[in-house]
Amino acid sequence: MTNTTKSIHTRVDISNAHPAMTPLFQNSAFESESDFFYSRKNNPNVEEFETAVKILERTKFGIATTTGMSAISLTLSLLKPGQKVLVNTFVYGCTYKLFQWYCNHYGLELIVKNLSDWKPELVEFVDFIFFETPTNPFLYSIDIQLISDSFKEVNPNCVVVVDNTWATPLYQSPCEHNADISLHSATKYISGHSDVMGGIILTNNSTLENKLRSQRFYTGANLDPHSAWLLRRSLYTLDIRIQKQSDTTLKLVKFLETRSEIKKVYYPNLKNKQLTQYATLIFFDLEEDLVPKYHAFHSSLKLFSTGTGMACITSMIAQPYTGSHASMDDCEKEKMGLFPNTFRLSFGLEDPEDLISDLTQAFESIQ
Ligand SMILES: Cc1ncc(COP(=O)(O)O)c(C=O)c1O
Repeated sequence: MTNTTKSIHTRVDISNAHPAMTPLFQNSAFESESDFFYSRKNNPNVEEFETAVKILERTKFGIATTTGMSAISLTLSLLKPGQKVLVNTFVYGCTYKLFQWYCNHYGLELIVKNLSDWKPELVEFVDFIFFETPTNPFLYSIDIQLISDSFKEVNPNCVVVVDNTWATPLYQSPCEHNADISLHSATKYISGHSDVMGGIILTNNSTLENKLRSQRFYTGANLDPHSAWLLRRSLYTLDIRIQKQSDTTLKLVKFLETRSEIKKVYYPNLKNKQLTQYATLIFFDLEEDLVPKYHAFHSSLKLFSTGTGMACITSMIAQPYTGSHASMDDCEKEKMGLFPNTFRLSFGLEDPEDLISDLTQAFESIQ
């Protein structure tokens, strides 16, 4: 045997390594006797991440995906042409565009309704419902139990899907309120460091789990091992990160409500106990006459970065009209009540008093 062949086949003996944490299985392939076969189907890091999230949200199954959007796309594979799809008016801009395009292209009927002030007498036959709660934008709350019970009474096969990203697996468990599927953009709170993308679908229904898991395999939507390893690592600190962010958010909301430059501050409803606590992402409406000064305002901020990131360890500011909802037409945005004077803040792990000082000096700079 040549040294080239020998060198290729040499392996360190790991049988006594006993690592304290699960190592990274940066593999596409596994030996034939392995439980893992091929990383497009499954991988130890992906499976550990899925298990850790499903424990937090108290579901039976977890299916990790490359991004939040691929988690949403995967649920669309449950639909057939001719079926009726109901989507809440207030959803992330790309989600709205995905549903619009998908339903148009594959011959499904798309109904867009405001589910936050929905009444049971408005119930109708639909095959699939999709909403976020709290919603992006505006943080409106939707009663998951009421929606699920009402629509399933009319169509027991109706699939209720909740985008639980902004609630987090710790503070809201949609499947305990009769939703069929909960999903997350793991890129946000779960990652928490603006350095990795991912998504996860959670369910208690084994038929849905089987369909989604095989569809993930065939479409190649599985999370990659390194991202799974990073996301699992982030989960160790999710609880303490969002607890601090939750405390900071309450202080900052109180502060923002005292500012004369602000017309309205949005914070979600925690009264119905569906959402047990809340952290980090809030919206505010700036007085209209100050909107032209927004550029000067955010340029004066030292601790808030701009951009697409959110729910991470550093604070951020964004304008949904030109950011998260940029893919929607102006009239679609305005129909949902989204105008250029609405801004989103995401609070990181900085000292809340430093964030207050930074915002104060930026508000003073535009007076
Ligand atoms: C509520 C919500 N769902 C899904 C997504 C999409 O997630 P990703 O960017 O990981 O694809 C986002 C992105 O901002 C979001 O805010």
